[in-house]
Amino acid sequence: MTDPQQALTTLLSGALAAAFGPGYADADPVIRPSQFADYQANVALALARRLNRAPRDVAAELASHLVDSDLLETVEVSGPGFINLTLRDDWIAAEAARQLGDPRLDVPAADPAQRIVVDYSAPNVAREMHVGHLRTTIVGDSVVRVLEYLGDVAIRANHIGDWGTQFGILLEHLLEVGEEQANDQLAAGEINAFYQAANAKFKADPSFAERSRLRVVALQAGDPETLRLWTTLINDTKKYYNSIYARLGVTLTDADLDPESFYNAMLADVCDELQAKGVAVISDGALCAFPPGFTGRDGAPLPLILRKSDGGYGYATTDMAAIRYRIRDLHANRLIYVVGAEQAQHFAMVFAVARQAGWLTDEISAEHAAIGLVTGADRKRFRARSGRSVKLIDLIDQAVGRAEEVIKDRYDDPELRAQIAEAVGIGALKYADLSVDRESGYVLDFDRMLALTGNTGPYLQYATARIRSIFRRAGIEPGSVTGPIRLTETAGGSGGSSPRGSLPASLKQARGRGKRRYMRSGTGMPSRPSPVSRTRRVSAERASLLWRVGSSAACRTGHCS
Ligand code: ARG
Repeated sequence: MTDPQQALTTLLSGALAAAFGPGYADADPVIRPSQFADYQANVALALARRLNRAPRDVAAELASHLVDSDLLETVEVSGPGFINLTLRDDWIAAEAARQLGDPRLDVPAADPAQRIVVDYSAPNVAREMHVGHLRTTIVGDSVVRVLEYLGDVAIRANHIGDWGTQFGILLEHLLEVGEEQANDQLAAGEINAFYQAANAKFKADPSFAERSRLRVVALQAGDPETLRLWTTLINDTKKYYNSIYARLGVTLTDADLDPESFYNAMLADVCDELQAKGVAVISDGALCAFPPGFTGRDGAPLPLILRKSDGGYGYATTDMAAIRYRIRDLHANRLIYVVGAEQAQHFAMVFAVARQAGWLTDEISAEHAAIGLVTGADRKRFRARSGRSVKLIDLIDQAVGRAEEVIKDRYDDPELRAQIAEAVGIGALKYADLSVDRESGYVLDFDRMLALTGNTGPYLQYATARIRSIFRRAGIEPGSVTGPIRLTETAGGSGGSSPRGSLPASLKQARGRGKRRYMRSGTGMPSRPSPVSRTRRVSAERASLLWRVGSSAACRTGHCS
């Protein structure tokens, strides 16, 4: 099975050597997806200087060595020296057929299979999940699904924040509000209001503040009544997360909880071990590790604080305990942390210290799968108009509401309409999240993510519905179709040959009309505007087929995360 990009790279390397001499065979041909062909090779621009020739000249010479390939339909020099490459239809068809013929769709199994802890979602108890948690949840869940499909053992770790001094304040507030009312408020997702009210009291009322401090001590000492109250607080917020997970179709369950509190009992020992190994030292009364290579602005070594001078432990200590536990007790050989990019330095330091301690070895990898920021149009962290952070559930509701708006005239049955709006709205949100590089931020724009054209969830859903409608009209079960795959529409709509096999008339008709237009009737969806063409635009179907062929090959070579 061949990844088109790889096949083209090999082809271009040969052409480079033939055109300019063997010394050029390992120049990177810079193959990229193209808007105007399937791919483009940008190497001529980079080589022009080295060869002291005009880029277009270099491109033309290179192109002349490509014309006879059985991989390529057309080779065109365009712009300042790009080489546009269009693959042969029969090559794509053969690759697609080969994938389809394989029960695993040509995705190879992981060999050897690994035990991989994937730390994701990780909201904080009694704090509202924000839009950043939406992303870590969706991306993390996709990572887990991919790994499981590959045959790895994925251990989901929802490292929720359920421990720390703020719980004294929250528990005292819970007692004052009354358990029942607090339960209702939290399970309904009124988490910010609860948290803010608790903090306001803490600031305004010294006796409340004092009780809160005592409550933390009681919590840490394992006082049964305090633990019971703390558990209700957690259960209430858990209900809220779970309702969000269910709506998003995320696979996390309570069995995947890996809360900060779980590591509480290990913190003292982790500190002792790090100190005994000389990895951590006392500095200004606090126990700190100073992993090499990390310095602050003033050039002074940067500490990872393990135990504060008052004896308290923090976020970093818990992460040190977690990494040791995941390696030693869970026997993981790969750790993936799907967490916001703003925590990059924290994880780099945690990994460095774990390496110094000998927990992380060359056989075990630890990766921070950094997630870029979701922003509003102002490119700042996405917030509501009021400036407050947006409740995740409101965001989901808004996506679904907007989707309903888009489809409202198309379905009379309110139940069906609601069902479709939920699928389209949530699909749009998830697709928008997954279709951008995980590290780049993106602007949350409902209009764009819900658009029926372009690279959106609704467009994919629409394309699927359209294909299924063709089958339905033809009276054919999609799974029952066999036979060779042929591509009969070329990218520019320059006509396609008829397939040799015979198709039912209705299917033929549907396909004939479908060329570069899009079916109007039956689906109730608008036709797509005709493609903008400079040279020629690649159809979305063709691009996604290529993507499919390429990505399964990428999975095989381990480049699909
Ligand atoms: N609860 C943290 C937050 O909301 C994320 C935890 C990520 N995982 C970890 N092992 N530190 O920012």
